[in-house]
Amino acid sequence: MKNTIYLAAICLFAWISIQATDNTDYGQLQDYPKPANLKVLPKNISHEELEATMKAFNQALGVKCGFCHAPRKDGEKGLDFASDANPKKDVARSMMKMTNKINKKYFKDFKKDGVLLQIGCQTCHNGQAEPVMRKMH
Ligand code: HEC
Ligand code: HEC
Repeated sequence: MKNTIYLAAICLFAWISIQATDNTDYGQLQDYPKPANLKVLPKNISHEELEATMKAFNQALGVKCGFCHAPRKDGEKGLDFASDANPKKDVARSMMKMTNKINKKYFKDFKKDGVLLQIGCQTCHNGQAEPVMRKMH
């Protein structure tokens, strides 16, 4: 019995620690207004699609939202998603354009078992922010 309480206390502490250090802020996205600063994604993208796209970025690069999004300036906790102050955001925009171009040019009709396959961030990043590059001489 004592052990159970002890274990429960550890779990609670671990959970609180994770909450405190996790700046993923999915919750914040719930009440996020309509996107105000989209330059690559369709401006009329649905809330669900935007959320899925952003979560896929997190996964593909092995990062959290704050890797590309700048903190809020008004002293409030959380991220300012519309801000372009974090330079990684523009790198990501250029990566999105590159990925679209590669797909259009080289994988336009690339099908397996009748399913159209396209490359994505995951294809190169595979969970890493910095994919392996070749050194040229
Ligand atoms: C790899 C970089 C990257 C990561 C990680 C990332 N984002 Fe983004 N996010 C972007 C880029 C780039 C845009 C702008 C896309 C465009 O210009 O079409 C954007 C746009 C947004 C917007 C729209 C803002 C507006 O008003 O225009 C929201 C909301 C957002 N992201 C939320 C999130 C959330 C929540 C996460 C974590 C789950 C996240 N992002 C993770 C790069 C990223
Ligand atoms: C064709 C391969 C390829 C694809 C596809 C690709 N990337 Fe990249 N990405 C790279 C390479 C290579 C780098 C440079 C790594 C380095 O800085 O050492 C990079 C760097 C980045 C960086 C900067 C990382 C840093 O630490 O500064 C971001 C952000 C990024 N990519 C986002 C994306 C997103 C989002 C997508 C999908 C829309 C994407 N990338 C698709 C190859 C790719």
